[in-house]
Amino acid sequence: MTENPYLAGLRLAGRKVVVVGAGSVAQRRLPLLVDSGAEVTVIAPSATPAVEALDGRRPGITLVSRTYRDGDLAGAWYAIAATDDPEVNAAVVAEADGRQIFCVRADRAVDGSAVTPATFGYSGLSVGVLAGGEHNRSAAIRSAIREALQDGTITEAQAAADVVRGGVALVGGGPGDPELITVRGRRMLFHADVVVADRLAPPELLAELSPNVEVVDAAKIPYGRAMAQDAINALLIDRARAGKFVVRLKGGDPFVFARGYEEVQACAEAGVPVTVVPGVTSAIAVPALAGVPVTHRAVNHEFVVVSGHVAPDDPESLVNWDALAAMRGTIVLLMAIERIEQFSAILQKGGRPADTPVLVVQHGTTPAQHTLRATLADAPEKIRAEGIRPPAIVIIGAVADFGV
Ligand SMILES: C[S@@+](CC[C@H](N)C(=O)[O-])C[C@H]1O[C@@H](n2cnc3c(N)ncnc32)[C@H](O)[C@@H]1O
Repeated sequence: MTENPYLAGLRLAGRKVVVVGAGSVAQRRLPLLVDSGAEVTVIAPSATPAVEALDGRRPGITLVSRTYRDGDLAGAWYAIAATDDPEVNAAVVAEADGRQIFCVRADRAVDGSAVTPATFGYSGLSVGVLAGGEHNRSAAIRSAIREALQDGTITEAQAAADVVRGGVALVGGGPGDPELITVRGRRMLFHADVVVADRLAPPELLAELSPNVEVVDAAKIPYGRAMAQDAINALLIDRARAGKFVVRLKGGDPFVFARGYEEVQACAEAGVPVTVVPGVTSAIAVPALAGVPVTHRAVNHEFVVVSGHVAPDDPESLVNWDALAAMRGTIVLLMAIERIEQFSAILQKGGRPADTPVLVVQHGTTPAQHTLRATLADAPEKIRAEGIRPPAIVIIGAVADFGV
């Protein structure tokens, strides 16, 4: 009969650990051993390139390039027998048993005096799972626990340490696909008492909220356009001061043409704690999921993200259109549909060739995604002919011709 192993955490800082073998098992174990502060000696006649790279790059690892010899475990507190030779592994375990050193045997776990759990670290927690030698089961349970912690299904004080009642989190909701919010963003949403959402924040994320969460559609706050930002700031501050955890959910990234920093400043001025959770910006993700990389080796060395919310000749414009026209790289235009004729014209006038490829993506990353291929010269006409409306992104440059 095999008794259940006793789960314990080893404090290995400054203590010698011997790993015999330098293949894939060692490769997976070494970073965690080194992170724990152990002094690790790896004994193997040859090592995988990844293990070799760790030697020297990570303090705490000494690589001994020869086969194992009896006596190699002297002074060790813990050992791992991980060669591809069962006889060597058996000899390592035998020496470890003789010296009363706990030892893992990678090829026949039952013969070792210790077993390695499936582990992960999360927000100061160390979680380990053993499943009586059923590796797939322990790995699956480990992953399920990790996901549950990340998405907030399992909660505990530490996991929610960055959730502040009486504070605001500015969360990037990603470009549209609800799976493209960050893990932290999703956890923030799970803990929210109030969610103030932008029009472009993925609606599916709101559908997941529990019914007692107050959801405010920022686009419908009853003020004139100019006042809307002040009204949003006031609302965030008001709810936070009432002791709520407020999530300000935005499309894409909160600091990319989203007035996020104004909200940070307003909260800071009001003495309300505010945290920022960056998001996946549509400027990169929308082209990517339409098959277009914003950069590609030997094609371009730059990409620029430009807001088209004001015309090139508007005194308020802060964009140097001549400089954009002169560059070779990718131009990603946001909020540009309304004035696309003017942008196309000024870029051509400044020297960007008329046949420069253009890709237009409307409702990117969502089931309603619609793409249009054009050139700089005929993009306006095609956009109008297809009736493309915002939200849409216009990608200009050689990469816009890509797409597999
Ligand atoms: C006010 S900006 C906000 C950008 C956002 N903060 C970001 O990082 O993606 C809104 C513009 O982003 C672009 N946009 C955002 N989501 C998009 C999507 N799913 N598909 C196409 N364009 C999108 C459009 O140009 C839209 O008019």
